[in-house]
Amino acid sequence: MKIFLDTAILDEIRTAASWGILDGVTTNPTLAGRAGRAFKENILAISEIIGDRGTVSAETVSTDAEGMVREARLVTSWAPNIVAKIPCTPEGLKAVSRCAAEGVPTNVTLVFNVTQGLLAMKAGATYVSPFIGRLDDAGQDGMDIVRQLVQVKRTYGFQTAVLAASIRHPLHVAQAALAGADIATMPFKVLAQIVKHPLTDIGLQRFLDDWHSIPETMRPF
Ligand code: E4P
Repeated sequence: MKIFLDTAILDEIRTAASWGILDGVTTNPTLAGRAGRAFKENILAISEIIGDRGTVSAETVSTDAEGMVREARLVTSWAPNIVAKIPCTPEGLKAVSRCAAEGVPTNVTLVFNVTQGLLAMKAGATYVSPFIGRLDDAGQDGMDIVRQLVQVKRTYGFQTAVLAASIRHPLHVAQAALAGADIATMPFKVLAQIVKHPLTDIGLQRFLDDWHSIPETMRPF
């Protein structure tokens, strides 16, 4: 499973990239606003950090297909690793199918059930993003949609990547991996959490203490 960061904060992206496990970045208008920089400049800076290790999703904000396609063409012209994020609406699907015909990569966002995801796949989306956390917030098991979309993709042989989004905690990441999601996008806080385990820290300290109890002359370092 690929790991994406769901953020527009450059320091977080640089840190995760330095760990050697980052495959891409997703942003949305809320996250872009938090970055406090001009949108294009910030997306380009993210795109440069990610380079050829993966893609960066930049969201369109028009609500009509014409405007979405125009914005999708624009953001994807900025760098070869940028993908246009388009909401799952009738106009959005129209825009995605036009983009697919032109070879413009898309990430269909705000997907809350399997049928929306199926339509996104049929329209030719590069990625489909079910929002797990927001469904959990509404009292529904968000991970069910990921499982169902993975099944639909396998049953019909769609090429669209299932991107588990709106991840809130480490269990979501584990469940997305077990469900067969192609990608999980998560806030930096969650990525930092999944690296750590208290038994790793305790075990490491014990190994270091025992190592240093060996006389220095008997150790190579
Ligand atoms: C997906 O690409 C979205 O940017 C994101 O995962 C939304 O997450 P939220 O529900 O925590 O805002």
